Amino acid sequence: MKDSRIRELISNMTLEEKAGLLSGKDFWHTKPVERLGIPSMMVSDGPHGLRKQVDDEDAGFNESIEAICFPAGCAAASSFDTDTMNMIGKAIGHECQAEDVGVILGPAVNIKRSPLCGRNFEYYSEDPCLAGKLAAAFINGVQSEGVGTSIKHFAANSQEKERMSISSEVSERTLREIYLPAFETAVKESKPWTVMCSYNKVNGTYSAENSWLLNTVLRDEWGFNGFVVSDWGAVNDRAKDVAAGLDLEMPGSDGINDALIVKAVKDGKLDEKAVDKAAENILRIVFRYLESRKEGIAFDKEKDHEIARRAAEDSIVLLSNSGILPLGSRKKIAFIGGFASKPRFQGGGSSHIKAYKADSALEAAAEYNVIFSQGFDAETGKSDKKMLGDAVRIAKNANIIVLFLGLPDTYESEGYDRSHMRLPDDENRLFDALYEVNRNIVVVLSNGSPVEMPWKDKAEAIVESYLAGEASGKAVVDILFGKANPSGHLAETFPIRLEDTPSYLFYGGELGKASYAEGIFVGYRYYDKKKMDVLFPFGHGLSYTTFSYSNLKVTSTGNNTFSVSVDVENTGNMDGKASVQLYVRNPETGSMIRPVRELRDFAKVSLKTGEEKTVSFTLPERAFTYFDEESRKFETESGIYGIEIGDSSRNILLSHDVEITATKKPGKINADTIISDILADDIGKEALSDVLKSVSLTGGGDSSSLGEGTDEMMRQMLSSLPLHAIISFSGGKADMQTVERIIEKVNAGRC
Ligand code: BGC
Repeated sequence: MKDSRIRELISNMTLEEKAGLLSGKDFWHTKPVERLGIPSMMVSDGPHGLRKQVDDEDAGFNESIEAICFPAGCAAASSFDTDTMNMIGKAIGHECQAEDVGVILGPAVNIKRSPLCGRNFEYYSEDPCLAGKLAAAFINGVQSEGVGTSIKHFAANSQEKERMSISSEVSERTLREIYLPAFETAVKESKPWTVMCSYNKVNGTYSAENSWLLNTVLRDEWGFNGFVVSDWGAVNDRAKDVAAGLDLEMPGSDGINDALIVKAVKDGKLDEKAVDKAAENILRIVFRYLESRKEGIAFDKEKDHEIARRAAEDSIVLLSNSGILPLGSRKKIAFIGGFASKPRFQGGGSSHIKAYKADSALEAAAEYNVIFSQGFDAETGKSDKKMLGDAVRIAKNANIIVLFLGLPDTYESEGYDRSHMRLPDDENRLFDALYEVNRNIVVVLSNGSPVEMPWKDKAEAIVESYLAGEASGKAVVDILFGKANPSGHLAETFPIRLEDTPSYLFYGGELGKASYAEGIFVGYRYYDKKKMDVLFPFGHGLSYTTFSYSNLKVTSTGNNTFSVSVDVENTGNMDGKASVQLYVRNPETGSMIRPVRELRDFAKVSLKTGEEKTVSFTLPERAFTYFDEESRKFETESGIYGIEIGDSSRNILLSHDVEITATKKPGKINADTIISDILADDIGKEALSDVLKSVSLTGGGDSSSLGEGTDEMMRQMLSSLPLHAIISFSGGKADMQTVERIIEKVNAGRC
């Protein structure tokens, strides 16, 4: 429906009707206005499947219709593949059409600031480029089916502790470079129909009331034109929210908050235009769904289950392999561990799908005649003497043990954070006991976030299956036995221990505030800068085949932009998929503190044995920028940058240097401006040239001055003095008037 028609409808509504439209009819529906033919629309969780709750007030939290549980965000993101994300999105969009759901509440793209966040299993990555492009692909998939998405939780919602009140204390640079770009990319590249604001405060203001976030950044800068919905219960002061750009309150508050909106307008505290705007934003989407509604769509569960299996296969990460995998036709294989028969394939909370069916690895491996021992209880992670004894006995008689370890449900969930990164102690003990009797151990992990691996160097292979959805069992077995070639790559760093993590000292916060003091140094940006060892680096993932990378070509396309291409060949004996990762290495010469390298693009290529393909990228200027808090813009600094191709952040295979020119013009100066900043351009150099000849830190004025013949040490010391210091160090040759003259001259020249 045209915006003008929507506005006309709104002009026919009473203030009470408009205010009513701005909150849900119930937990999952928008309000209809029958007299004007405005229908109600259903929204549902999300993000990795359809959690359409049954229409029964007494139904429990997990009472939803049966649907397909696709790989959770932690797994899907490891596909490093926009096609996989698009495929999942399309399937979910199709299911929504079949079930008459207008908006699916996802994707969830909050940055993994710490492995402790209870909701990391739903989120994509520690890296905003990866999270943003994957989210855009998912959204494009869903929305191509005529169903909306709700990218969440906007913004800086990277912990569960006190999630409904905590204030994320975070600098603008950190927001702009790390916590906002995933949303920005998705909004710009895929136009999500809705955005869900987070529960938390950002720098003291609730996201729901944060006009800078919702109006300035999201709408004015990025061009968002859907509606903003509150996270469920994130509304605190409804009139303030409306003014700040929060359109829809969910769930409804039984009219209580609607009345507050009416009162605020009548009291002159809220402009009615803001109410009209919010109503217009909501109706635009409700009608968009109505117009793209497809009747009679069949929900083909078998077909979607197969899509979930393919997605799981693309997502599973082979972390290490001595050569024991694939198992092929090897005999006497024992599956040990509770997760082999009771797969853990999704996390707890609002994303919990009532899965259509669940493949266990044990069932999926029926054709291989594996022997099985439970070893521990998958629900608790606990073992007892009998389980342990039985597992050891089985291990003794097997050639190879596949040990299914992982985190029980209660260890990670929406609503609370983990306090440590360990697997249950009994699971680690089980590994040790089995290792005593049989050293051929392959570990398969089911977890939503990194775990410590005390047995890492003893395992012959480690397969990270994350929480790979209802078809994960079959996908794992196909990878173990070599019917499928693993191609997942880690969307997050696996640190060696919790104490190594960048936010370790501050995570969770205190007194209601969580300081994001590590700033932009999240994930590999931190470990690389500190040259730290990690368990497995960001971007890491092995294959059963080998790939060779060659012929990196970089062509300038003007104004700090480039086109990049690289040839990738499958040089091994099995068809497979390569993950081509493009990093930009920042120069060390700039004045800004920057990460060593940052992922700026990526591609997944499918290659048959012996096949070669050329992969191309275009690099915009943004790939070289940092966010400048002075100019409040993304800026570049001059220098030599590296365009790097790798298959992980720690395995750079090809590199090509390019020269970038600075976008930031030297700004206005004052008496506190550092001398080196004044010397940044010819105007400053000229203005200072006379006076600097007489400046000295030793009371002299010649050999140790900034004039000719100055030794390097003295030059450096002097150049970090503020301008006003020339009065003290110029032997009486400069006074306040000199300083003022210089300021006037430079500022006149720089304007
Ligand atoms: C979660 C959202 C979810 C909503 C509706 C909230 O508690 O944070 O992610 O979409 O509930 O279930």
